[in-house]
Amino acid sequence: MTTETTATAAASGAKATERFAADKLANVADTPPERVSMLAREVLDGIHATIRKHGVTYDEYNALKSWLINVGQDGEWPLFLDVWVEHVVEEVANESRQGSKGTIEGPYYVPNAPELGSEATLPTRDGEKGTPLLFQGQVTDTDGTPLAGAKVEIWHADDEGYYSQFAPGIPEWNLRGTVTCDGEGRFWIHTLRPAPYQIPTDGSCGKLISAAGWHAWRPAHVHLKVSADGYQLVTTQLYFPGDPHNEDDIASAVKPELMLDPRQVDGGEQVTYDFALDRA
Ligand code: DHB
Ligand code: FE
Repeated sequence: MTTETTATAAASGAKATERFAADKLANVADTPPERVSMLAREVLDGIHATIRKHGVTYDEYNALKSWLINVGQDGEWPLFLDVWVEHVVEEVANESRQGSKGTIEGPYYVPNAPELGSEATLPTRDGEKGTPLLFQGQVTDTDGTPLAGAKVEIWHADDEGYYSQFAPGIPEWNLRGTVTCDGEGRFWIHTLRPAPYQIPTDGSCGKLISAAGWHAWRPAHVHLKVSADGYQLVTTQLYFPGDPHNEDDIASAVKPELMLDPRQVDGGEQVTYDFALDRA
């Protein structure tokens, strides 16, 4: 049985919801009532304006109600929000950064991936499919001073576009790792090129996409969190030139600064990407 025949929106949605509850929810700060009121008011005003402008009917209102109920039942709120909302939160959060660009985290990060040295090979299955990829680079501060011992957390989809811990039948830490850079902030990560990723089409988000006539694709990407003591952590993704979905990523998370530079080498591909971190 291939992963493709068994992965479902409901299963990956439930995992993403569980992960969010476990890793993020406890750290959410209380928001003052005035701000809650202002933000909720403006979002509702926006909905009311759309209803008036387009003469939204009871049938359409009930379709929305049923769809919202299903998003929750499918566990797809993390997926919906990370695809259609997170990119603007990220833009606002990081607009004053001088160093490397960030982009959305998405729903599939898992903390505490296996610790690996500066020359690392990510965990893979026997016979893992895909083009071998050596991803190398250096972490510095914004003045170019190397950051010895910086951490590079990396996670990405496999050659079919599936993430470990969110699709069935993939070992827990497949294609995930926490790399510690050497004394000059350098790292070399041996992995495989990920495939483009299609957000699950069999759940509520898929229903919205097909009802609207949109497509469900994200371009192939590698996720990263790069950090060092005393510096701001960067959450980002890197992309491959020529991917047909670099221009119309459903999650609007591609930036020109995040393109890789693949070079053909013996037995695969090599990319180099350096990170500059802003002081905390
Ligand atoms: C989603 C998946 C991703 O791999 C990603 O990077 C962003 C969003 C999603 O399915 O919501
Ligand atoms: Fe992703």
